[in-house]
Amino acid sequence: MAERKKIRFGIIGLGLMGKEFGSAVARWCHLLDDGVIPEITGICNEKNLSDREWFTSNFPTIEVVTSDYHDLLASDKIDAIYCAVPHHLHAQMYIDILRAGKHLLGEKPFGIDLAANVLILEEIEKHPDLLVRCSSEFPYFPGAKRVIDWIKSGAYGQLMEVRSGFHHASDMDLNKPINWKRMIDINGEYGCMGDLGLHTQHIPFRMGWKPKSVYADLQNIATTRPDGKGNIVACETWDNAVLTTRCDDPKTGKEFTLVLETKRMAPGQTNTWFIEVYGTLGSVKFSTHDPKAFYILETTGKEQGWTRFDIGPKSFIPTITGGIFEFGFSDAFQQMIGAFMQDLDSKEAKDAFRNLIPEETHWSHLLLTAALQSHKTGQKVIL
Ligand SMILES: NC(=O)c1ccc[n+]([C@@H]2O[C@H](COP(=O)([O-])OP(=O)(O)OC[C@H]3O[C@@H](n4cnc5c(N)ncnc54)[C@H](O)[C@@H]3O)[C@@H](O)[C@H]2O)c1
Repeated sequence: MAERKKIRFGIIGLGLMGKEFGSAVARWCHLLDDGVIPEITGICNEKNLSDREWFTSNFPTIEVVTSDYHDLLASDKIDAIYCAVPHHLHAQMYIDILRAGKHLLGEKPFGIDLAANVLILEEIEKHPDLLVRCSSEFPYFPGAKRVIDWIKSGAYGQLMEVRSGFHHASDMDLNKPINWKRMIDINGEYGCMGDLGLHTQHIPFRMGWKPKSVYADLQNIATTRPDGKGNIVACETWDNAVLTTRCDDPKTGKEFTLVLETKRMAPGQTNTWFIEVYGTLGSVKFSTHDPKAFYILETTGKEQGWTRFDIGPKSFIPTITGGIFEFGFSDAFQQMIGAFMQDLDSKEAKDAFRNLIPEETHWSHLLLTAALQSHKTGQKVIL
């Protein structure tokens, strides 16, 4: 068998997401795919030595270990970068990565604000030879795939409403110390919308549902938090956001309501991503809260009833997992990297679902900037 080509990755940011990337690469044999293989050859974080050690002890392929990301960019041992760092660093790092001629899988929100996102997109235009994508893993759940396939079939008739959301509960603990994700200067003015928004927008945007207007209801519920050093400090980021938007459906040319919810204070929810699609002829819903359940309803008369299908792990890229087993976040993350690799390989499979493209991150920033304005003025904002 011919040896498969390797794409050598450097990782900037070895925290929550950097390690998830490492784990996905470590079990690449999980995927039944004969394309290019990712290999980790460089790592960079600010100062945490135990995070670096986790990588170096698990990945003998690592050659560059540094606290200065420029070292990764200067290395000829690295073809692509996965960059998972706090939001205020996105613009500078993403631009430098592209200038160094490396492919980029970046993290959301892809710039701390609209101005930063525009700078990144301007740089991308100068490098048509480089692949640039933004992370978003939830469409890769088998249940989300069923929703996507169903939407593409047009079985909904005319869309009435789509709800897409992301709910967390860890901030319900008011004693949880503040971290960078709750600070405006590092996380950004969007607050929970910047952190969670693209996850809710990936499928709607990909279906061509581009908001024409937005009315935003934003809440800052926990206005103070402990700083972990015995003090109570201000916590100014938005905890919860509900955006009511209006979109045209390209399939029918008819307008419908798209509601995007991002909540850090949603009692009882841990990383619950969901999508619900309601049409005149049929409806579907899926939530990671119940990852095996795909719900579908056909409107045939006066009464309607939901049917629950207990689905297996059938994902975009086939895997070794048996058809009766469960799928989880780490599987979705690996599928997402798999889609990035297929794109790099220019070998898009028939069934592929692309990672977020730069233009979609820009739509997101236009929407979230308008949402801030809507909340400030109490008015619906036309995009
Ligand atoms: N896709 C997802 O599901 C998901 C989930 C959580 C976070 N994220 C995104 O991933 C990114 C990182 O979030 P996280 O939760 O992994 O954060 P984290 O705080 O766990 O890790 C951040 C990492 O960045 C490193 N870092 C900070 N400043 C640096 C510098 N100047 N040079 C080099 N490294 C530096 C830190 O050392 C740390 O390793 C953010 O954009 C966040 O929105 C995505």
